[in-house]
Amino acid sequence: MKTKSLILSFLTLVVIFTGCKKSDPEPTAYDNADAGKGGILYDKFWATEAGYDQSSANLTTFNAKADFFRCKQCHGWDLLGTNGGYISRGPKTSRPDVSPLNLFQIAHSKTEQELFDAMKKTTGRRAVSYDLSTYDPTSNATEGNKMPDYSALLTDAQMWDLVKFMKEGAIDVTKIYDVTYTGAYPTGTATYANLGKDGNAASGDAYYANNCAGCHGSDGKLILMEEMSVGKFTRKKAYEVQHKVKFGQLGSAMVGATTMTEAQMKDLYKALSSETKFPE
Ligand code: HEC
Ligand code: HEC
Repeated sequence: MKTKSLILSFLTLVVIFTGCKKSDPEPTAYDNADAGKGGILYDKFWATEAGYDQSSANLTTFNAKADFFRCKQCHGWDLLGTNGGYISRGPKTSRPDVSPLNLFQIAHSKTEQELFDAMKKTTGRRAVSYDLSTYDPTSNATEGNKMPDYSALLTDAQMWDLVKFMKEGAIDVTKIYDVTYTGAYPTGTATYANLGKDGNAASGDAYYANNCAGCHGSDGKLILMEEMSVGKFTRKKAYEVQHKVKFGQLGSAMVGATTMTEAQMKDLYKALSSETKFPE
């Protein structure tokens, strides 16, 4: 009798365990998404690195009016829109207004599904066929400032990559530097200080030596970008460098360090804050 009930309870346990295993949820589209790819799409979704069909008929429009289609133009490299590094990036006939949304905060307060639905939404979005040559910041800006209708441009998988980038891939810039904003968009200014915060400069120097010096030189002056060294670029455009380092400089040999942690980014910023080691 005792043996029988033992065997029975053992069998029950086996059934329960196999049952549990069977009911393990399938990975969701979000689980399968790639934040690294999302970061590339956020920069320029039609880039070769993003795997976009380079024979698409829309490519001419995208390239001619790039800033009307790149997420980073309207939402900023720091996802802070007009309240971030793009506080001074006013519109021109060749680029729309920066959005006042704090996309970083929205991405962390909304659910994965809500963000996906916002990407997929068609109402209130600008049709790809809209003639952007009529855009004028002072007299005809409404339509051009609208978020493009990405439902016609991106696959569901790419939208999930973007959602994962916004939720998990994007760096919280408030953790890697201090910044003072004065004035208001589009004539405000951002002044950066305390790059790398409590990061470790020695670890950042080592990171730079292992991952950057080969191309940029040990003092960051080998390649000049907009006539700036790596040190100067980082100190002037602290909001942008973190994205380039993590997701790559598209169209160049520099690929992103997508698994880089916030702590490593802090260390790197701390190292690059030194004008002695990384001169202008
Ligand atoms: C031309 C400017 C523009 C571009 C380019 C753009 N957006 Fe937007 N985006 C907006 C505006 C304006 C809104 C606010 C209106 C709205 O929510 O419908 C918005 C809203 C959003 C929202 C919804 C936020 C909320 O409140 O729920 C998300 C998410 C978003 N954008 C992500 C992106 C991503 C990712 C890209 C690139 C694939 C992108 N946007 C490209 C202008 C733009
Ligand atoms: C394989 C070579 C290579 C490596 C490794 C590399 N870069 Fe670059 N980097 C480049 C090239 C090429 C450019 C583009 C220069 C240009 O646009 O003229 C670039 C651009 C940049 C820019 C300017 C981005 C812009 O918007 O113009 C910064 C900042 C930068 N790199 C920093 C770094 C840092 C920091 C590292 C290490 C984490 C690094 N790079 C690693 C080759 C490299």
